[in-house]
Amino acid sequence: MTDAPTTRPLPWSDDVEQIQPDEAEHIRRCIDSMHRTNAMTFDLHRHGVRATHAKSHGILRGTLTVHDDLPPELAQGLFATGGARHDVVLRLATESGQLDDDRKPNARGLSLKVFDVAGEMLEPGTTTQDLLFNTLPILPPGTAQKFMELAEIRERNFSDENAMAAEVAARPDGQTMTSFSRLVGNVHPLAHAYYTQGAFGYGDHVAKIAIYPDTAEQEALAERTVGEDDDSSVLRALVESWTTDRETVFDVRVQLRTSESMPVEDASVDWDQSESPYRSVATVRLPPQQPYSNARRVFADDRLAFRPWHGLATHRPLGSVNRLRRAAYEELGHQRTDLNAVEGTTMRSVDELPD
Ligand code: HEM
Repeated sequence: MTDAPTTRPLPWSDDVEQIQPDEAEHIRRCIDSMHRTNAMTFDLHRHGVRATHAKSHGILRGTLTVHDDLPPELAQGLFATGGARHDVVLRLATESGQLDDDRKPNARGLSLKVFDVAGEMLEPGTTTQDLLFNTLPILPPGTAQKFMELAEIRERNFSDENAMAAEVAARPDGQTMTSFSRLVGNVHPLAHAYYTQGAFGYGDHVAKIAIYPDTAEQEALAERTVGEDDDSSVLRALVESWTTDRETVFDVRVQLRTSESMPVEDASVDWDQSESPYRSVATVRLPPQQPYSNARRVFADDRLAFRPWHGLATHRPLGSVNRLRRAAYEELGHQRTDLNAVEGTTMRSVDELPD
């Protein structure tokens, strides 16, 4: 299961992070722009949705179990104790901040909240490790500045999708920036691999994390492509048709940073998987269940929040895009709950999730 390392991982060092020029200004401008866009989206529905990953496809509960036999470089932080078992909540969604038609190809997201985590936390008083993944190994706008520029393009062209696409495509980095929808097949959400894209502290090292389908039957769901004959919310139906009477299993994998050529400050650069493969550290098991009851949908879409900075200090989110996320999820998440006049929650126990 756990491939032998090809190269030794680089040690953690405090200077692995480099604050970028004008970073604080880029972060402020980005959040302000997303706030305004979010307000325009609210006005379409008279309901607050997430600024990204607005449309959910399923919400599941289950467990994460750390592998027993991890070598020292992988047995770090959340994964330090072999056999440790935690409850989890998992939400599947599409990257867009709009309630898009599922037939439109786009990156999909998987959010994982791991409960009852012990150790020094980034936010004192929290007890979960929140891990957020997308279906690409890289984040095309890989710096806070580029993410801000993309947010401002989305805001400027809010009512004209074609003009927005044209403005992005006309940039010198247009090819990379438009890769969201090109690089991943539009298939069953439980068949994708999902990646943190950005880097994280990993105890003595630095790593990216990913989550892969873990049974041949689940991988084979990739053959179920979404086409023009499908319903506009087919992804929810696909998730439901699998999880109602089958177990869903994911393999959590870690890619250790083994070379200076694997940047921390630019999440648009893929770390060479032939030099440092993703290696298995834990299994997520989600028993058969109904993933989209009205009570569960309302709880997860309106009240629940995943926060990349809720986690162990040893898994500190790294790079300017991750530093941008610290205030962004707080402020934009509160905008969502304020608009809906509901009390937000980051949850303390899996039992808060309604059936
Ligand atoms: C680095 C790679 C990133 C990944 C893998 C990622 C993934 C995700 C996922 C899966 C969600 C859905 C969370 C949920 O289910 O509640 C989400 C939400 C969100 N993301 Fe990201 N994201 C990334 C970067 C960013 C950046 C740079 C920003 C900048 C502002 C951002 C802003 C947001 C916001 C505002 C939400 C909604 C928060 C809420 O309303 O609670 N993300 N992201």
